[in-house]
Amino acid sequence: MTWLVALVAAALAAVLHFLWPYVARRGGAYSTSSAEAAEWAFRRIGVAGKRVYDLGCGYGRVLLIARRLGAVPIGVELDPLRWLICRIRCRCRVIYGDMFKTPLSDADVVYIFQWPSVNAELAKKFRNELRPGTYVVSYMWEVPGLRLVAHERRLRVYIYET
Ligand SMILES: C[S@@+](CC[C@H](N)C(=O)[O-])C[C@H]1O[C@@H](n2cnc3c(N)ncnc32)[C@H](O)[C@@H]1O
Repeated sequence: MTWLVALVAAALAAVLHFLWPYVARRGGAYSTSSAEAAEWAFRRIGVAGKRVYDLGCGYGRVLLIARRLGAVPIGVELDPLRWLICRIRCRCRVIYGDMFKTPLSDADVVYIFQWPSVNAELAKKFRNELRPGTYVVSYMWEVPGLRLVAHERRLRVYIYET
């Protein structure tokens, strides 16, 4: 019987771990970008020497790609376990917190993989905070109200410039 309780508790913890930013109404649940899409976008922009933020960086896949291409990667993650693993894996600055409360005025490139409703909320923040000439890369979903400069349909990636 004890093992059953432990199993149910572990299953609940696992489900919450993946869903909790969504449950807390803060952003998208966990999934990961296609590495090919992120790399395509970063090569297209040319990120060497640029500060690249991944808002909701998960376990750090996109940050590692950015760093391999010469960027200065900065992650933001709300989930404590993902934050910790990302911090250990990437050995770069990974902010533990809410992307909506993270200042972005020093960003050169902002990468997101969130849900459409979250992108719409983020668009307001981008319009208020990002410097002109900052790139926004969105995997999977469009970001309303920003100027689209490139789109790779097969990879489902969008590049905007403020
Ligand atoms: C779809 S995953 C994307 C992971 C990674 N960026 C990638 O593309 O592979 C979304 C991530 O955003 C995080 N997240 C959701 N809402 C957030 C918020 N308000 N602030 C920081 N991170 C958030 C989730 O915990 C999750 O790890």
